[in-house]
Amino acid sequence: TRIAVMKFKNPPVNSLSLEFLTEFVISLEKLENDKSIRGVILTSERPGIFSAGLDLMEMYGRNPAHYAEYWKAVQELWLRLYLSNLTLISAINGASPAGGCLMALTCDYRIMADNPKYTIGLNESLLGIVAPFWLKDNYVNTIGHRAAERALQLGTLFPPAEALKVGLVDEVVPEDQVHSKARSVMAKWFTIPDHSRQLTKSMMRKATADNLIKQREADIQNFTSFISRDSIQKSLHVYLEKLKQKKG
Ligand SMILES: *[C@@H]1O[C@H](CO)[C@@H](O)[C@H](O)[C@H]1NC(C)=O
Ligand SMILES: *[C@@H]1O[C@H](CO)[C@@H](O)[C@H](O)[C@H]1NC(C)=O
Ligand SMILES: *[C@@H]1O[C@H](CO)[C@@H](O)[C@H](O)[C@H]1NC(C)=O
Repeated sequence: TRIAVMKFKNPPVNSLSLEFLTEFVISLEKLENDKSIRGVILTSERPGIFSAGLDLMEMYGRNPAHYAEYWKAVQELWLRLYLSNLTLISAINGASPAGGCLMALTCDYRIMADNPKYTIGLNESLLGIVAPFWLKDNYVNTIGHRAAERALQLGTLFPPAEALKVGLVDEVVPEDQVHSKARSVMAKWFTIPDHSRQLTKSMMRKATADNLIKQREADIQNFTSFISRDSIQKSLHVYLEKLKQKKG
């Protein structure tokens, strides 16, 4: 079928650990170099949670060199996905906050399961964290300036119907049809010659990606010094303790 399916599997919530990010990029590169593959469906092995996003354990209680390495890997994931020459479709079969939304935003098409328990959005502001400028740009490119401005400040998580309305996802389908739908949409994208589709995609996305590429080091520096702040480390601590209590 020339379609590959990448199923996220990093229990319990598919968080984007450094290891996950590194393996993800390697797998994507392999698929891009595989002449038999033209498109990839991104989805979760575990229905209910697409991805909970960045791994707070990589951002708490570590040294600046670790934060820098981690952020570089986050940038790399985004750049590789955003500029991939394959057709990427996300089959969002669970909650998709923050970094989960990041992965979905890089795709050419987003399909979400019609389950009001699942939400999608960039909610970093709730934790006192600011989404990076390149992710903001990706958000603006997807849902427009006004909607992005409001959703980013409020840290809005959209249930499927609202995500559809704002244009954050392209289609909402019954939960058991997310994968079949992704395949039928892919078939439609495959009717377009790769060459012209890739050049068009690049034309639409290059400026946004270049904006990060030319400021990568400064962005890493900013993240590292921001996340190292006592006040941020303290709020991460409080947040992680709360998570522990919920679990225990
Ligand atoms: C994507 O790029 C890789 C590496 O340049 C190439 O080998 C592959 O054929 C390309 N895939 C498609 C679908 O054009
Ligand atoms: C974002 O939303 C998810 C899903 O509701 C939640 O688990 C996570 O704690 C939220 N993140 C922040 C920073 O509030
Ligand atoms: C880094 O932070 C400084 C100070 O807040 C800001 O002026 C600059 O634009 C930031 N650079 C990047 C690449 O985000």
